[in-house]
Amino acid sequence: MSCYNKPDFWALKARKEGYPARSVYKLREMDEKFGLFPRQSRRGAPFRALDLGASPGSWSLYALRRIGGAGFLAAVDLEPLALIKDFSNRKNFFFVQGDMTAPETQELLRSQGRYHLVMSDAAPETTGNSGVDAARSLALAESALEYGESALLGGGSLAVKVFQSKDAQKLLERMREHFAKVKIFKPQACRSQSVEIYYLGQNLARGAGG
Ligand SMILES: C[S@@+](CC[C@H](N)C(=O)[O-])C[C@H]1O[C@@H](n2cnc3c(N)ncnc32)[C@H](O)[C@@H]1O
Repeated sequence: MSCYNKPDFWALKARKEGYPARSVYKLREMDEKFGLFPRQSRRGAPFRALDLGASPGSWSLYALRRIGGAGFLAAVDLEPLALIKDFSNRKNFFFVQGDMTAPETQELLRSQGRYHLVMSDAAPETTGNSGVDAARSLALAESALEYGESALLGGGSLAVKVFQSKDAQKLLERMREHFAKVKIFKPQACRSQSVEIYYLGQNLARGAGG
């Protein structure tokens, strides 16, 4: 599994703060460092985000807290979300249980409109074969970039997890073609032995269709 079970400092902190997974601190670190979500005083159109590989739901919960009632969050995962009561009856949250790489899921999520932020923490079930795991992780990250290319608003951002590999470099190059700023980030909340890394693209040159 890519989501770890043994509680450590971050897992215990997450539990105390009402999040189902320690991964929330990776998103919080990226937000604090790169400003993924709008500052509280931000004016203009309500903020819209898309969460790929969202279960058990920590990133979604964090995003909903950060974007407030006027914003909108869409999310997808193969698995259901853990904290159903935190997500039900919300008019500004749309969840699809399905495969993010499937054309029908992509269409459904794109039909919700464009987004200011696409974030992907999606990870494959690990097999123990690092080559296979890296290839599967890269396929998910490439799918996330496709959402970024087709569903982001101009000026939007993409934060995507990928297992480090030589081929993952190509993803970085593709991101550089689209985003004004591209960064590589390893959050402190990642386990030290983890091969995962996040690529962050900011300020998309132009949205889909212009
Ligand atoms: C590390 S967990 C995500 C944790 C989540 N960000 C959170 O904070 O709760 C990775 C997730 O990716 C999902 N995933 C893997 N392949 C997927 C796919 N093809 N479509 C949708 N979700 C996928 C897994 O089901 C798993 O829930």
